[in-house]
Amino acid sequence: MRDSRETFVNHAFVTGYPVKHSRSPLIHGYWLKQFGIEGSYRALEITPEAFPDFMRQLKDETAGFCGGNVTIPHKEAAFRLADRPDDLSAELGAANTLWLEDGEVCATNTDGRGFVANLDERAKGWDRISTAVVLGAGGASRAVIQAIRDRGVKAIHVVNRTPERARELADRFGGAVHAHPMAALAETMSGAGLFVNTTSLGMDGEQAPAIDFSPMAGDAVVTDIVYVPLKTPLLRQAEEQGFRIVDGLGMLLHQAVPGFEKWFGRRPVVDETLRQIIISDM
Ligand code: ATR
Repeated sequence: MRDSRETFVNHAFVTGYPVKHSRSPLIHGYWLKQFGIEGSYRALEITPEAFPDFMRQLKDETAGFCGGNVTIPHKEAAFRLADRPDDLSAELGAANTLWLEDGEVCATNTDGRGFVANLDERAKGWDRISTAVVLGAGGASRAVIQAIRDRGVKAIHVVNRTPERARELADRFGGAVHAHPMAALAETMSGAGLFVNTTSLGMDGEQAPAIDFSPMAGDAVVTDIVYVPLKTPLLRQAEEQGFRIVDGLGMLLHQAVPGFEKWFGRRPVVDETLRQIIISDM
């Protein structure tokens, strides 16, 4: 089966609206070249109205698609319209990676796996922590919470400007996940080993609020899922206060690995050359 797939079905895509800003074609283009695979990976701008049709067309063998990525605003629709969403995407209600199996569209969400793989690479031993603080309660926050819970983090404190959204996440995940309003940020940080920013705080034209990271454990890691700029206002502050920081670029690179492997049958590696390719495009 592999042979026929590689011969006839070797086109992958990223679809979003808009999608011009996506760096995924650079990532997958790099790996396709590295492995010498005769495949393609293209950005396809599809409106929300046209997306259901696109999902149907995927199954048309003459289109030659092996699968692709889905980004904003299609992640929820991709999950809903997929024939076989996996458990990870079902818990999040959103998918970012699609592939075809027996003529059916399968879906998963690799954002959380990308997040933890980045920490595994750049903050070895991070998963010995028991408490984490996650700032923000949107889609990205959900993927991060799921992934760190699945790696055994026992208490996850979600802090959000709109407290109801944090509560919604705590209800959704139960047990390990607790909701807090912004005003409680300092106390939730006490003794925590990981701080994750999933918001655009300080990057939307307003000045970032000063955050005192000192209540956290001395060897705590502070990370951001935003990667433009590489050193976000929050990461800058944490570094100045002597904390280990991990930027979000690795999350983007690592979330791409499972998709490439599904579509093209080879497991790619995130290397420094790839990181530099994306940095020079920023
Ligand atoms: P995504 O899917 O990328 O996570 P989102 O669903 O729009 O995006 O969520 C963005 C998150 O950033 C939310 O938690 C949002 O807080 P609200 O729920 O209160 O809207 C948070 N956020 C964005 N700008 C913010 C700001 N200036 N201050 C604090 N939180 C902010």
